[in-house]
Amino acid sequence: MIPQLTVVDHPLVQHKLTLMREKHASTATFRRLLREISLLLAYEVTRGLEMTTKRIETPLCEMEAPILGGKKLALVSILRAGNGLLDGVLELVPSARVGFVGLYRDEATLTPVEYYCKLPQGLEERLTILVDPMLATGNSSVAAVDLMKAKGARDIRFLCLLAAPEGVARMQEAHPDVPIVTAALDDHLNEHGYIVPGLGDAGDRMFGTK
Ligand code: URA
Repeated sequence: MIPQLTVVDHPLVQHKLTLMREKHASTATFRRLLREISLLLAYEVTRGLEMTTKRIETPLCEMEAPILGGKKLALVSILRAGNGLLDGVLELVPSARVGFVGLYRDEATLTPVEYYCKLPQGLEERLTILVDPMLATGNSSVAAVDLMKAKGARDIRFLCLLAAPEGVARMQEAHPDVPIVTAALDDHLNEHGYIVPGLGDAGDRMFGTK
């Protein structure tokens, strides 16, 4: 078991996050830092995976050596910003299955509406890690977890870069069984739903759009 909320306060993570927050960081710098930080966060979100052992031979002797032995992994990215975190995590677990969820916000009801959902088969047998850099209102991540559970996922973790207290509360209320791993818990959401102090629009910053 990992805790319900983990804030990864490792010096390298905090250093890279500070550089990403700076408004003059270029798209290339932002992207590079996001990839680097996602490797470090992937390390944390995969903590406690089930292990087994394998008999191997080193140059000196035989030994029973630990290897991953439990459930297989699946990663689910919330489009489009989730893909920035996804790339780094996939580098560490290249055999993971990958799914995508696309959601847009209905401006009248402010609720997320699904426009794309492609999830791997057999989620009931896998540890499934949902990735999205910004846990703001929590509406998208709650909706994505709803879709994943409807497709059979039972063992889910959520990985983000920044979280707002409002989003954490919403996720923990809707899906108390889903542990959250983040690099920082920021102060609040502003009236436009942006995390403060935050880093702005993660998708725009990583893709150079606006
Ligand atoms: N999405 C973002 O990209 N940034 C925020 O601050 C909130 C949601």
